[in-house]
Amino acid sequence: MSGKIVIVGAGKVGTALAVLLQKAGHSVTGIASRTLESAQKAADRLSPIPRAADSAVELTPGADIILITTRDDVIREVCEAIARSGGFRAGQVALHVSGSLPSSILSAARDEGCFIGSMHPLQSFADVDVAIKTLAGSYFCLEGDGEAVDVARGLAMALDGQVMTIRTEDKPVYHAAAVIASNFFVSIIDMSLRFYEAIGIDREKGLAALMPLIEGSLNNIRELGPVKALTGPIARGDAGVVASHLKAISSLTPEDAPAYKALARLNVGVGLAKGTLKEDAAREILDLLGE
Ligand SMILES: NC(=O)c1ccc[n+]([C@@H]2O[C@H](COP(=O)([O-])OP(=O)(O)OC[C@H]3O[C@@H](n4cnc5c(N)ncnc54)[C@H](OP(=O)(O)O)[C@@H]3O)[C@@H](O)[C@H]2O)c1
Repeated sequence: MSGKIVIVGAGKVGTALAVLLQKAGHSVTGIASRTLESAQKAADRLSPIPRAADSAVELTPGADIILITTRDDVIREVCEAIARSGGFRAGQVALHVSGSLPSSILSAARDEGCFIGSMHPLQSFADVDVAIKTLAGSYFCLEGDGEAVDVARGLAMALDGQVMTIRTEDKPVYHAAAVIASNFFVSIIDMSLRFYEAIGIDREKGLAALMPLIEGSLNNIRELGPVKALTGPIARGDAGVVASHLKAISSLTPEDAPAYKALARLNVGVGLAKGTLKEDAAREILDLLGE
């Protein structure tokens, strides 16, 4: 089905998807949001400009596909409010884009005869313009009713995306993996920068210095996989280096010691899997980390 699309929730994801779906030839006929200001701002990025509203039910009856892109904790109530006001009709497809929540939170739409599903873009939307440039090639994780998954697959393909499907009950684990790879990674880089700040290297200089290392590591992961990509003192079994890190951290940024130790323990597991870290050295490092 390539039909009329109404987007509900004019934030980063809703706005980027609206722009890209229209660019891909889809008909985005309306954008609704909590505030008319956000809806209009998103709509003004499109040409032709779709209708904007602060009430989804003004727009949803004429849609074939309703894409709910509000923040997670209001998706269910937004869907129920549309259903209560008669904004759904049988045969429509209602999708949300949350990575952690199941499509079943749209059950109010299914009760009105809609097909329900979720399509989670496995990409970080920190900024609308950056997301518009980087979304192509990203995976979309789909689950829900067969008809809704088929429609979501069509949308993902139109966005030059790739598709994976999972069981509805596996969404929390699927999403935890995404959070580790994206959000936790961001916090780890922030921790690196705090270490540099503690010795007088400002964040801008620190980030510039780390970027080639980060990109080299990403490339090694891409080319070799994470186990073979592991380098560094733990992969080599250099317990003395780990001891020197712990000593420095305890005096300069002691609040980071638990995170360093937890990540170092994960490194021990990967080092053992790689085979360059031997059991004796692993035991010595784990003793330092205080299991
Ligand atoms: N950000 C990411 O990296 C990312 C990646 C993949 C998936 N997602 C998913 O995408 C969804 C949106 O995330 P986001 O990052 O785009 O959030 P966001 O930028 O905070 O935008 C959320 C939008 O929801 C609107 N909203 C809030 N309450 C509403 C209501 N009652 N009725 C209608 N609209 C309402 C807000 O509208 P107003 O501006 O009018 O207040 C806001 O513009 C979430 O389900 C999230 O899990 C996010």
